[in-house]
Amino acid sequence: MKKILVTGGAGYIGSHTCIELLNSGYEVVIVDDFTNSVMEPVKRLEKLAGKKVSFHEVNLLDKEALDAVFKKEGKIDAVIHFAALKAVGESVAQPLMYYKNNISGSLALFEVMRDNDVKNVVFSSSATVYGDPEETPIKEDATVHATNPYGHTKSMMEQILMDTSHALGWGVILLRYFNPVGAHESGEIGEDPEYPNNLLPFVSQVAAGIREHVTIFGDDYDTIDGTGVRDYIHVVDLARAHVKSIERLTGFDKGTLIYNIGTGTGYSVQQMVETFRQVSGKEIKVVIGPRRPGDIAECTADATLANKELGWSAEYGLQEMIESAWKWQSKYPNGYRGAK
Ligand code: UD1
Repeated sequence: MKKILVTGGAGYIGSHTCIELLNSGYEVVIVDDFTNSVMEPVKRLEKLAGKKVSFHEVNLLDKEALDAVFKKEGKIDAVIHFAALKAVGESVAQPLMYYKNNISGSLALFEVMRDNDVKNVVFSSSATVYGDPEETPIKEDATVHATNPYGHTKSMMEQILMDTSHALGWGVILLRYFNPVGAHESGEIGEDPEYPNNLLPFVSQVAAGIREHVTIFGDDYDTIDGTGVRDYIHVVDLARAHVKSIERLTGFDKGTLIYNIGTGTGYSVQQMVETFRQVSGKEIKVVIGPRRPGDIAECTADATLANKELGWSAEYGLQEMIESAWKWQSKYPNGYRGAK
């Protein structure tokens, strides 16, 4: 494996993965249409890695333009497919937009891969495919039953890839991420939501004085302190799981491999807020609110399979996740907005 095409490479997880790929000696081709991102992280990741990527502003639904990228770039050894819409609430309100972007966009990509004889893909899936799990930590063979359109697009994509792998002899790795948080240690790239839906970016903005308080969505769950428990994973660890997946696909003949990517340790909302207070030294006001519809009590990963078969395990703990998130937040309070 030499040349890797990354869709959504200007996004949060994509940009961190591109750095790790460049640092590991791969050539990187990014395809991104800036739906949820900007060019700035691409410039910064090139600077951090001391290497250039080949960038193409293309929407995956534009099959002709996508095909032209594959033809122009020559031999692409594998694709890492991040590009997708990812807000659960929005997907409930606008399912057609989610199916069109996530499913039709991916289908166009896979057709172009087929037409250009590219047979390896690492897909950005999510623990959301498990829905409300019967037991935690969750193993990969747990039942898949997503509970919202965003989650459905992820499980449908998984199915499409499994069927394609079977029919066309592709090597496929489905990575089911738990809760990605944190930022690059430089503080130069990080998560940049316009309005945060997820816990940690929200807490970050409260610590920074951008928002007044964080609402805890329910404190009556059956968990250690009543608040929701999740398996938070440092985005750099997650990025490295993609590099390990590319290595795993090297020489792997065909078939689909599925791995949970998490630390195996769960933290409650209260624990996250408390650690953020300690790391930032800031007051973080919390208000207890009702449960958020669709939320579950607890979600943690059994990542034994990724440890064994990918040779991957999480290196960073909660302290480093929150320190890096805070470094990025303090350095760039407005994210990439206003960057030169
Ligand atoms: C959410 C999505 C999930 C998606 C993942 C991507 C939902 C229901 N699930 O996971 O499908 O794959 O993001 O990162 O949206 N919380 C608060 N206050 C807040 C925000 C969150 O108390 O302002 C709590 C939640 O109730 C939960 C925990 O914090 O217990 C984590 O929430 P969040 O960061 O939104 O992640 P998930 O809900 O696990």
